[in-house]
Amino acid sequence: MHPSKGALTHMALLEIKNLHVALEDGPEIVKGVDLAVDLNEKHAIMGPNGSGKSTLAYALMGHPAYEITEGQILLDGEDVTELGADERAQRGLFLAFQYPHAIPGVTVTSFLRSAINAIRKARAGEDDPIPIPEFRTALLAAMEDLKVPRELASRYLNDGFSGGEKKRVEILQMALLKPRIAVLDETDSGLDIDALRIVANGVNALVGPETGALVITHYQRILNYVTPDFVHVFVDGRIVAEGGPELAHRLEAEGYEAFTPATVGGDA
Ligand SMILES: Nc1ncnc2c1ncn2[C@@H]1O[C@H](COP(=O)(O)OP(=O)(O)OP(=O)(O)O)[C@@H](O)[C@H]1O
Ligand SMILES: [Mg+2]
Repeated sequence: MHPSKGALTHMALLEIKNLHVALEDGPEIVKGVDLAVDLNEKHAIMGPNGSGKSTLAYALMGHPAYEITEGQILLDGEDVTELGADERAQRGLFLAFQYPHAIPGVTVTSFLRSAINAIRKARAGEDDPIPIPEFRTALLAAMEDLKVPRELASRYLNDGFSGGEKKRVEILQMALLKPRIAVLDETDSGLDIDALRIVANGVNALVGPETGALVITHYQRILNYVTPDFVHVFVDGRIVAEGGPELAHRLEAEGYEAFTPATVGGDA
């Protein structure tokens, strides 16, 4: 690298550098990941069960059970590796969970309002709650767009929700929080065909000059709607291949055999 060029080097929105993640006192799961997701970009991560995709997503979000043992996470050039999950969320990082948790006692509406207000407070430096009429209008519009049944809003978050309802509510959250970088961990799994299209539209509507997205998935089908700019193949805690949308088609046709550790490093 030319030292004189350093200052001019473009910094992507999200930069993951040599990231290693271990379970507390446990084995290393993510074994050195480099990945940059920029504004206006959609990236897909595909990889076999147990390869560490969700672990990577949790570590990005700052889940305390996943320890970053080496490497860095930069958001807009700021090192957020040591920050808590709330601070990362305030900076615009959002994770749609593979397995969203239920919060009995907290309705979807009050959860969403608290989440919005926490972010507004962080941005304003003081309490700055969204006016109720503004919140209601935004919520109803987003629910309509995402075809989330009205009655879900007054139920406890994810409590007794069907698999697909949980995923839709994750996307509802995303639409209302308007993150700068959205990480979706298998949000497409378990969705019916209409919901898949709705979720994909939600991602497409979000990604633009101010936002990027990282979509973790097992299936090509969501990528028919959310065309990725880059596809990363994730095997055994590492990105072992990268390409464009054609790579997802190849995986669908051939599986991961060509990318498994025994063959990686060959001429695959
Ligand atoms: N909290 C935990 N406790 C014990 N093991 C864990 C924990 N979290 C992850 N692991 C293990 O780490 C490995 C990677 O898990 P992870 O959930 O990241 O895989 P994944 O790539 O998301 O798989 P899938 O495609 O099935 O969602 C697995 O072997 C899993 O059992
Ligand atoms: Mg997973």
